[in-house]
Amino acid sequence: MRIGILGAGRIAKVHARSIAAHPGASVAMIADPCEDAARELAEAHGARHTADPAEVISDPEVDAIIICSPTPLHAEQILAAAKVGKPVLCEKPIAMDTETIDKLFADLEGLDPQVMLGFNRRFDPSFAKVRRLVDGGVIGKVEQVTIISRDPAAPPREYLASSGGIFKDMTIHEFDMARFFLGDIATVFAVGQNLDPELADSGDFDGAIITLTNADGVAATITNSRHCSAGYDQRLEVFGDKATVNADNIRETTVQVSTGEATDAKDPYLDFFLERYDAAYRLELAEFIDAVENKRTPSPSLKDGAAALAIAEAAEKSARTGTPVTL
Ligand SMILES: NC(=O)c1ccc[n+]([C@@H]2O[C@H](COP(=O)([O-])OP(=O)(O)OC[C@H]3O[C@@H](n4cnc5c(N)ncnc54)[C@H](O)[C@@H]3O)[C@@H](O)[C@H]2O)c1
Repeated sequence: MRIGILGAGRIAKVHARSIAAHPGASVAMIADPCEDAARELAEAHGARHTADPAEVISDPEVDAIIICSPTPLHAEQILAAAKVGKPVLCEKPIAMDTETIDKLFADLEGLDPQVMLGFNRRFDPSFAKVRRLVDGGVIGKVEQVTIISRDPAAPPREYLASSGGIFKDMTIHEFDMARFFLGDIATVFAVGQNLDPELADSGDFDGAIITLTNADGVAATITNSRHCSAGYDQRLEVFGDKATVNADNIRETTVQVSTGEATDAKDPYLDFFLERYDAAYRLELAEFIDAVENKRTPSPSLKDGAAALAIAEAAEKSARTGTPVTL
């Protein structure tokens, strides 16, 4: 499969690397208005480059598109690819607001597009195993899900200003993970925190705790922070009436060092998302390619992306008003 990439930034580099490692795919062409970035990434993969994303979408030697541009451009690029019948793997979130997504769904009517959303954590081998244990009945009836996601350090202020806020930018991954285990979410209650003095005037929260429930009363708790002195903290627990299952942080080695000062000292957590979720990005790409080749609807779908954004908007409202929101 000859794949075109829109954008040549951080996540585009990850996808280009995964494509290069996939036996059935190659990077065909990369577009970025910052042409130097496009050229550099394209040269690293023996691909063509352009400053114009429309050229990649229409190129006859590009079979599928991966959208890695800034979020406000995703909807129009999904639509452009759908109009020429090309399958899309689009980075999260689909858009900054649900109105844009509603319009996209209306515009896509009759085009029957093959679109997958880049919720890579579903493909993390540990989280995917937890899901298999749930599906296999090992946990019994799921009652509570606990998700912890803390970044090592806050991104630059310029990034925060255009990020859409913590819920759409960061927690969106956890909202999708909560849906992965709970299905559709019925209620959202969020507490936002402003504890980092460096970000006090950013207008955004730098930490949050969110409780979600589904229609059966199964609850998920999400804990987020933009900073964590211990590193990139990514954990998950699913509690059911038969078992409790945990997916812990991942380290480079399993070596433990014990001295007179400290016992069982281990490597730090894998840091940051490029390293921690490397396997997940590769498996996500493999699922996209397999779905396209076998003409399946890829999962997670555009609808999963829309549902996660609706939860993010509800969380923002809940945190700002101090009241639970029913979806
Ligand atoms: N799934 C994940 O783990 C993950 C991680 C990081 C980012 N993301 C998402 O990926 C997207 C990009 O994030 P990033 O961190 O790579 O950003 P980035 O700023 O590093 O890269 C974005 C690139 O897009 C380019 N660009 C601007 N306009 C464009 C256009 N019209 N067409 C094509 N490219 C254009 C920019 O010049 C820039 O090089 C965002 O939606 C973000 O939320 C997802």
